[in-house]
Amino acid sequence: MSQLNRRQVTGALAATAAATGLGYRPARAQTPLVLKFSHVVTQDAPKGKAALKFKELAEKYSNGAVKVEIYANSSLYKDKEELDALQLGSVHLLAPSIAKFGPLGIKEFDVFDLPFLFINAEKADKLFQSPVMAELNGKLESTGVKPLAYWNNGNHVYTCNKPLIKPDDFQGLKMRIQGSKVLDAVARQLGAIPQVIGFGELYQALQTGVVDGEDNVPSNILTQKFYEVQKHLTVSYHGRLHYSLIASKKFWDGLSPELRKPLDQAVKESTEFFDATAATDNIEALDKIKSLGKIQFHVLTPEEKKEWIAKLMPVHKDMEKRFGKPFIDKIYAAAGFVPPNT
Ligand code: LMR
Repeated sequence: MSQLNRRQVTGALAATAAATGLGYRPARAQTPLVLKFSHVVTQDAPKGKAALKFKELAEKYSNGAVKVEIYANSSLYKDKEELDALQLGSVHLLAPSIAKFGPLGIKEFDVFDLPFLFINAEKADKLFQSPVMAELNGKLESTGVKPLAYWNNGNHVYTCNKPLIKPDDFQGLKMRIQGSKVLDAVARQLGAIPQVIGFGELYQALQTGVVDGEDNVPSNILTQKFYEVQKHLTVSYHGRLHYSLIASKKFWDGLSPELRKPLDQAVKESTEFFDATAATDNIEALDKIKSLGKIQFHVLTPEEKKEWIAKLMPVHKDMEKRFGKPFIDKIYAAAGFVPPNT
């Protein structure tokens, strides 16, 4: 990747300042453009590591014309503040779970939370390259949010202060969910009481019993130490955690070509880094949690998993009211999902 020379840097910064309307006025010719990147996980979680990789590459490929400031672990903005901050221009980059896109008013992003949708893992990733994503990306851009990449952070497991082996075990439990309406329906179908709680407040909510359990990827359970405040972990793989790396559309489209090129390359390579490391990190995290011996493991047997699938497939049917059957069928086809005849 050829680097910008100093003259190009000056021109690029001036053009970007004019186009983005962010009031960026270089104090002197070489003042770097500072990009704020906020997220809610630790620096050593897959998303945290990919954010650091983006910073390294963006600063390198722009030859210092861009400086990336990373605000990890909800230190700048929490779940419920992030999207507003992006749309106000107070932060430039986020990588939230797409289960948290509800406030953007695009209900279709909840569809990725349909239980066991990604049961055909080797086909499922095709979904994020399919034409149906182009349709959703267009809706996202209409809200002023620019989707730069999708990062698949793997399968969810459950943690709880009691064993979760059969669907009926959820009866009456207060279970933390992200803000997606489909996740709300999943919890209710299991007989649980769903509670939307920000990721940054989840450890304390589990510790104080505000909620009895939650579902997440192993790397989050490890890096947030949820195993300290939960007694049981069920390897259910009932859902997946997908992030979208997003920017303000006005900001990103306003970047000068000289800055856009290195930043696009940094997005591409940090996405490749995420894809190459997240799956391994989550497998290693599950092994590490187990080795710590602080939480009791249960891996669903095929028969138990069949019971969970049978219990949860009605959520797919119910969601035809929310998304329409044609849209769900498009998602099924793109994800290689065939509804089991339960
Ligand atoms: C959660 O809220 O459980 C996750 O989406 C947090 C994250 O960004 O991985």
